[in-house]
Amino acid sequence: MNKLKKCLFPAAGYGTRFLPATKAIPKEMLPVLTKPLLQYGVEEAIEAGLETMAIVTGRGKRSIEDHFDISYELEHQIKGTSKENYLTEIRSVINACTFSYTRQVEMKGLGHAILTGETLIGNEPFGVVLADDLCDCEREGVLTQMVNIYEKYKCCVVAVEEIPKEESKKYGVISGDVIKDESYKAGALVRVNDMVEKPEPQDAPSNLAIIGRYILTPDIFEVLRDTQPGKGGEIQITDALLEMAKIGKVVAYKFDGKRFDCGSVDGFVEATNYFYEKIQA
Ligand code: G1P
Repeated sequence: MNKLKKCLFPAAGYGTRFLPATKAIPKEMLPVLTKPLLQYGVEEAIEAGLETMAIVTGRGKRSIEDHFDISYELEHQIKGTSKENYLTEIRSVINACTFSYTRQVEMKGLGHAILTGETLIGNEPFGVVLADDLCDCEREGVLTQMVNIYEKYKCCVVAVEEIPKEESKKYGVISGDVIKDESYKAGALVRVNDMVEKPEPQDAPSNLAIIGRYILTPDIFEVLRDTQPGKGGEIQITDALLEMAKIGKVVAYKFDGKRFDCGSVDGFVEATNYFYEKIQA
């Protein structure tokens, strides 16, 4: 199977939990310190060796395209001043990869957003990053860790973390059989055989929740085309992945690192404080 080169960023959602901030600004552009959430995700993908960022946008998301582009006026204004280095990081992101965009015309769920991205991905495996799950890892980024697993197992990979069971309603929850692999901590890899989107705690198959990092093989598109609306009347990637799991093609990975739910105000504030303390240290 091909080497991973592309990363899909579903970024068409409304971000209603952050209104009124997200009335005219996409939620993916909200900054943690001085950097938009989406840029953290793109940097993580670049670190993992991915070269093409495929972004599924929607109405009102033009600032995403402008962010990952040169602003000649701004560059001209600050050229030769001490402010020039504020742009160094974003400039190196722009130089390290290419961006492609498509629009999700109707909001029919994460599965539908991923299927909308097929035109940008084609017939190859790809990473998926939900930018509002912001991750920080000591050594390798989550996607880098997952690419290594994909290269060994050649199947879909989902990142999971342990959650208190009462929070199951916020996540896709998986269960399966632990894979014995000497290269990983005991219990870090699970061959998934069940997954449920946002179950009630009593219906959750375990306490392992999917966070917004996936590696998917292109056969997921065929499955998504046949996936009926599930939880919330939306086409769920969790339901499509369950079909792949039934034939043994999904591995869940308890990643090494911290993750912040920047889709919630609490998680966003926590991430901001964490990254602020980190730069002070
Ligand atoms: C999505 C997925 C869910 C996953 C979560 C991770 O839900 O549908 O399975 O656990 O992302 O953040 P959302 O947060 O978009 O409602």
